[in-house]
Amino acid sequence: MVARVGDRRYTDAMAGRFITFEGGDGAGKSTQIRRLAARLAEAGKSVVTTREPGGTPLAESIRNLILSGGARRFGAEGEALLFGAARADHVEKLIRPALRAGQWVLSDRFFDSTHVYQGLADGVDEPLLAALDRVTVGRTRPDLTIILDLPAELGLKRLAARQSASGTAPDRFEGDTLALHQRRRQAFLEIAAREPERCVVVDASRGEADVADEIWRVVSARLLHPPRQPAAGAGG
Ligand code: TYD
Repeated sequence: MVARVGDRRYTDAMAGRFITFEGGDGAGKSTQIRRLAARLAEAGKSVVTTREPGGTPLAESIRNLILSGGARRFGAEGEALLFGAARADHVEKLIRPALRAGQWVLSDRFFDSTHVYQGLADGVDEPLLAALDRVTVGRTRPDLTIILDLPAELGLKRLAARQSASGTAPDRFEGDTLALHQRRRQAFLEIAAREPERCVVVDASRGEADVADEIWRVVSARLLHPPRQPAAGAGG
């Protein structure tokens, strides 16, 4: 079947589908990505899961530099440029080729995280971030962005429990103040309100299975079985 251009609002008429997961720290994105990937695979889709910063060897090395706090001395703008450099490599080497091959790409964070963490919460200029998006992302925009929303206190509590079980320390951003985590939550909700065609907010304070069911309903309704659009020029 030939896809009409109008069916693909964001991904430049590529064959696959691009879904990003966003939200504060401790929202459960990686668990939900694993669950969605399994369901899509059961439905016969070829799925690639990835994350940001990261996804390619070069981007993973930038990830280590940033999350260890080693890039903090560049300031928020410098960090934004590093996230952008990592993203450019990720989009070019992994995301675009996978979409062209008809795969479903699920990414744990993408450009909204830069707008929230470096932009709205950390003060980096929106025009600079928009310019960065043009260069790094271009037309490879997500078909769907799932924003996992929960009170910042709850996210931090979950994170602390996970970290004490695994013996890991908070990274560069996780250790920030509660007030900053709360600002980030609001910033994600503002993006969702501005772009309802792309973004869906899912209440992540519930149990894992309930959250997974809701995500599956959203993906089914929006991407697997979207309502038919009238053909261009038909009807009247
Ligand atoms: P990660 O361990 O993947 O955190 P999480 O499991 O919460 O996604 O670390 C990614 C961290 O980097 C996270 O705290 C958010 C931050 N980040 C930014 O500040 N800007 C960005 O553009 C991206 C992609 C992530």
